[in-house]
Amino acid sequence: MDARIEVIERRLFAGVVADELVASVLEAVEERGACHIALSGGRTPGRVYRSLAFPPRVEEIPWDKVTLLWGDERWVPHDNTHSNYKMVHDTLLNFLDDSLPEVLPIDTGLTTPQEAAEAYAKLLKAQNLPLRNDLPQLDILLLGLGEDGHVASIFPDSELLNASEAVCAAVTKPETGETRVTLAPAILKNAKRILFLVTGEAKAEVMKKVFSGEGDLKSLPARLFDGESERVTWFLDSAAATKLKLK
Ligand code: 6PG
Repeated sequence: MDARIEVIERRLFAGVVADELVASVLEAVEERGACHIALSGGRTPGRVYRSLAFPPRVEEIPWDKVTLLWGDERWVPHDNTHSNYKMVHDTLLNFLDDSLPEVLPIDTGLTTPQEAAEAYAKLLKAQNLPLRNDLPQLDILLLGLGEDGHVASIFPDSELLNASEAVCAAVTKPETGETRVTLAPAILKNAKRILFLVTGEAKAEVMKKVFSGEGDLKSLPARLFDGESERVTWFLDSAAATKLKLK
């Protein structure tokens, strides 16, 4: 079964994805009484998070049944402009008041990124999530896609691509040397619903690679999800989809 692909006009993108997220949260809460979502960082999802922060959607989500986690984080303080936690705080958390989710950021205040990765793995395992492949299964995982095909902070040639047991790890972004903490492939692939959010002309080439079968796992970490298609939905804006030959 191929992954679902939704190509959306840029101006409608945030609303369509936010509506899908509301539906997915309600489905998880219906099934399990709770919803654990791992949020994506980067620039793309901010507009979606903001769309969840205001009526009508903000009232449709039972926030007190939601736990927010992060798929990855930059190794900076949570008040740093590069922080994925700060991006979610400024676009969503800052606007929630009545019913609040549980918020579990990656703790970048610990001494080392390795310590933070170990602590986050422990925290994730302590969530009593359903298990799939003997690992915690998140209800929803949001991911962006880098122009180099990276997902979360799993970059091309990453050692994590062969580390099937890893849950969370400290890594270095090759092109900048920036330290990151990221959920590992086995956890990312395990999620019940995997939603990719990809916008902009700059992603058209990598999207073409993903769907043309070009590039192997090491060169295109998004290939991690090739075998998980029945749980993957790609939300693309028209610009990111310009090079795709969709049926
Ligand atoms: C991060 C993200 C990263 C991001 C992609 C796409 O911390 O930056 O986790 O994987 O999703 O790089 O980023 P944009 O949405 O900014 O294009």
